[in-house]
Amino acid sequence: QYVIVNGVVPFVTAVLTLASMLYVTARIDWRLAMLAILVLPVLLLLTETHRRGVRARWTRVKESESGALSVIQEVLASIRVVKAFGQEDRERDRFVRGARHALAEQLAVVGAETRLGLLVALALAVGTAAVLVVGARDVRSGTLTLGSLLLVMAYLAQLYRPLETISKKVAGLQSSLASAARAFSLLDEVPDVAERPQARPLARAAGRMTLRHVSFAYGKDRRVLDDVSFEVPAGTQVGIAGPTGAGKTTLLMLLARLIDPSDGEILLDGLDLRAYRLADLRNQIAVVLQEPVLFSTTIAENIAYGRPGASRQQIVDAAEAAHLDDFVMRLPDGYETEVGERGMALSGGERQRVSLARAFLRDAPIVLLDEPTSAVDTRSEAKILEAMQRLMQGRTCFMVAHRLSTLDICAVRLRLENGRLLAADDRVRVSAHG
Ligand SMILES: Nc1ncnc2c1ncn2[C@@H]1O[C@H](COP(=O)(O)OP(=O)(O)O)[C@@H](O)[C@H]1O
Ligand SMILES: [Mg+2]
Repeated sequence: QYVIVNGVVPFVTAVLTLASMLYVTARIDWRLAMLAILVLPVLLLLTETHRRGVRARWTRVKESESGALSVIQEVLASIRVVKAFGQEDRERDRFVRGARHALAEQLAVVGAETRLGLLVALALAVGTAAVLVVGARDVRSGTLTLGSLLLVMAYLAQLYRPLETISKKVAGLQSSLASAARAFSLLDEVPDVAERPQARPLARAAGRMTLRHVSFAYGKDRRVLDDVSFEVPAGTQVGIAGPTGAGKTTLLMLLARLIDPSDGEILLDGLDLRAYRLADLRNQIAVVLQEPVLFSTTIAENIAYGRPGASRQQIVDAAEAAHLDDFVMRLPDGYETEVGERGMALSGGERQRVSLARAFLRDAPIVLLDEPTSAVDTRSEAKILEAMQRLMQGRTCFMVAHRLSTLDICAVRLRLENGRLLAADDRVRVSAHG
């Protein structure tokens, strides 16, 4: 539709105007009409060359623009994963690269449009001048009346206007990129946690986790966790069950320090999470969410998301650990297969295994799993559970599930209800004073 309104209609108008102008002019003075018609092939040549060059460019502008925009969409949809894996800068770079590319292509288009505008104006000015010179001579010699010449000139102006509009269709494009940049600033606006000026570095945590009287409220009175206290030694697999809305996801977000407690404190290896450098802390953590978050790139890059620069062998090892290798080997492009926007080219179970492979490759001492099997079919569930069990080995894990029974693989099981910790077994200390 855009193409028709902005490209074809002015062109047809121009042609019709030209034809009628030639008809009228020819009836007044056929020599002037012939002169005016000389402009036509020049104009056709100019616009045709231009259209051909710009059409390809235009496609590239649209492509790179939507490329940059899809980065934003992905980031907004998966902000927790981006942050939990500490990849904010990479996403910003990805967007800036795309946007810069789109801008360069747009400038090239604008340049071409401007050149066309100038050349069209020049050709028309030359044509107009020629008609005027010849016509004025005829008026002086008495073969043409002044009124007729003015009429011819008026028609020429008519022709000029629609042709000029073609070269002025450029404005209004810059704005879409500007709005994209605004949307991206949301990454910074999502409620964030602050890093202390003297934050400690942390190479690799052991993984002992202590919660002391932790409460959390969204906003002022939206209390979700209420005085939660427990301690688990490093390397413990903790299962957390509870009904929807009990605060399970919120608890995991607190453990990853995506949010800070409203009251109380969370300690890692005996130190408050807030004492550590944020990037170092996030480096200790791998997350697997209910809805696996994939980015529209290759399987290999998706697996390596939490560990940029991983070798191919490491990626393959991680895929094998997640029972993903067989599936990938059957794909014609193997690890270079594009997973499509948000990984939609894969099934739920395949997506979840990619995110498990990602967690394996991350090799973090702490693993957070939020209802990792609730979105996969029962056939892949057994495989995924088996892979998950190995992922959890030797790491401090918090695995959330709707039902307690799915937490059999966990050494310790907790129950969360209405923001309060209800039941625990003897391997974990749940007490009022931590
Ligand atoms: N960003 C948020 N803002 C306000 N309320 C929220 C937000 N996220 C979750 N909640 C509320 O907090 C409660 C606990 O949510 P959540 O931790 O996701 O529970 P669960 O994972 O156990 O289902 C729910 O009532 C939910 O509506
Ligand atoms: Mg949840």
